[in-house]
Amino acid sequence: MIQPVLDPYALAKALSGLQLIDGALRPPASGRTFDVAHPATLAVIGQAADGDAADVDLAVAAARRAQPAWAKTRARDRGKLVARCGELLMAHVEELARLTSLETGKAIRTESRVEAGVLADVFTFFGGLGSELKGETIPFHPDQLIFTQREPIGVVAAIIPWNVPLLLMALKIAPALVAGNTVVVKSAEEAPFGVLRVAELLQQILPPGVFNLISGDGPGAGGPLVAHKDVKKVTFTGSVETGRIISRAAAEKLIPVTLELGGKSPMIVMGDADLDLAVAGAVTGMRFTRQGQSCTAASRILVERPLVERFVTALKAKVDAMVMGDPLDERTDIGTIISPRQLGTVRKYLTIGRATPGAEAVECSAMPTDPRFAEGLFVRPVIFLGLDRSSALFQEEIFGPVTMIVPFDSYDEAIELANDSDFGLAATIWTTNLHRALDAAQRLEAGFVQVNQNLVVQPQLSYGGVKTSGLGKEASLEAMLEHFTHKKTVLIRVR
Ligand code: NAI
Ligand code: MG
Repeated sequence: MIQPVLDPYALAKALSGLQLIDGALRPPASGRTFDVAHPATLAVIGQAADGDAADVDLAVAAARRAQPAWAKTRARDRGKLVARCGELLMAHVEELARLTSLETGKAIRTESRVEAGVLADVFTFFGGLGSELKGETIPFHPDQLIFTQREPIGVVAAIIPWNVPLLLMALKIAPALVAGNTVVVKSAEEAPFGVLRVAELLQQILPPGVFNLISGDGPGAGGPLVAHKDVKKVTFTGSVETGRIISRAAAEKLIPVTLELGGKSPMIVMGDADLDLAVAGAVTGMRFTRQGQSCTAASRILVERPLVERFVTALKAKVDAMVMGDPLDERTDIGTIISPRQLGTVRKYLTIGRATPGAEAVECSAMPTDPRFAEGLFVRPVIFLGLDRSSALFQEEIFGPVTMIVPFDSYDEAIELANDSDFGLAATIWTTNLHRALDAAQRLEAGFVQVNQNLVVQPQLSYGGVKTSGLGKEASLEAMLEHFTHKKTVLIRVR
């Protein structure tokens, strides 16, 4: 076992070249690895195991061997073990936060420490739900006893992205495990270490093979995992494009999938809104502290025309006050973009936006001046004005610190603009008019609607999108029951 260390560089080195299969850290069958860099300096911090089909076979075989005994463990006892995982992770929050900031470039105070705490909390929450795996009795006929029971699906594959790796992994594996499944996770290329440390820690509590983790690229490791004949369910968070590939592969095997994909979440600010509240909500909603790298990012801010100027001024002032810099420094509010590739995507959209006739790019915050970060993947947050629905920036997910303010003249126009998107993940409306708020909650095409606030995902509330934002729900008891169990109907003739 690796000793707890607060030096994230040492931890990344210690975890280099390893995966977690059948209770032990081990190198990939091929021996191949690839470099992982700290996005703030581009210095190499370690090597990720470049897992492939051979590692998938080992991990799935281990999960399959472990599954019957895990499923036979009393549900409440599985829950207790998962809750103990939560306690253990809580004791390692600081270490996981540092490691996450090192590999993702997210600021420790505003992002990584919060994420590591929620990771632990998700295990604690689902750990309490073991006894909720209940069925129903159905009054069909006096001579029959008919009931349903919840059964585990078997080996679950979880493919996760790099933007919130600890939390997004927890939302998949905690409910899957409590429901009696065993799991193989495929981590994202850009963020392999934090989740591997979690997997390694949890071996102190979970039986071998119950929770396995491999790394490697999408087609090389994720592809064979989804296609493996013994994988009976796939849960995925990431891009729409990859979601479609995974969905097709799952369709070939006729197994269920849960997909949490992108978003272009609208925020409607009515003229009667509390301006300060709405502006603060735009800052959290847009996830500026995460450089906008969030599927939920409030990347289309629709503002009633008379309020636009004041809104822009107030939002710019707030974002200007945020400190961009060293992800591991407590004073930092905003860290970096994850990778050169992602920075390229963000710059591509900035170029398109700036080249649009009539558009104006309001740049916020200041770039870090420390020469240590000369190569760092920093980019200034931008608020675009003068873009409309015809812009690629209005229609496509950017996954960067780029938002836009689009004026509207009537409430109906605002709802119509908000719904003019292929995506439907989250939406908010800011108003003091109760009728408008209730009407909007009905008319907005999104899986998660909030009024006058912008809370982040909560473990007890179902989360998931409509349209191309995904299929199925994550978090909540409902997600555990609907997406990680099969419901069996049993009919017994009693006389
Ligand atoms: P991606 O969807 O390609 O990657 C996410 C995960 O899927 C990674 O673990 C990756 O290795 C895996 N993957 C990729 N191709 C695969 C395949 N053929 N089979 C199985 N697994 C595969 O996302 P990427 O390339 O990192 O980012 C591209 C865009 O996706 C971003 O700019 C953003 O718009 C969106 N995205 C959305 C996320 C969300 O939270 N919904 C998270 C990450 C990215
Ligand atoms: Mg990709």
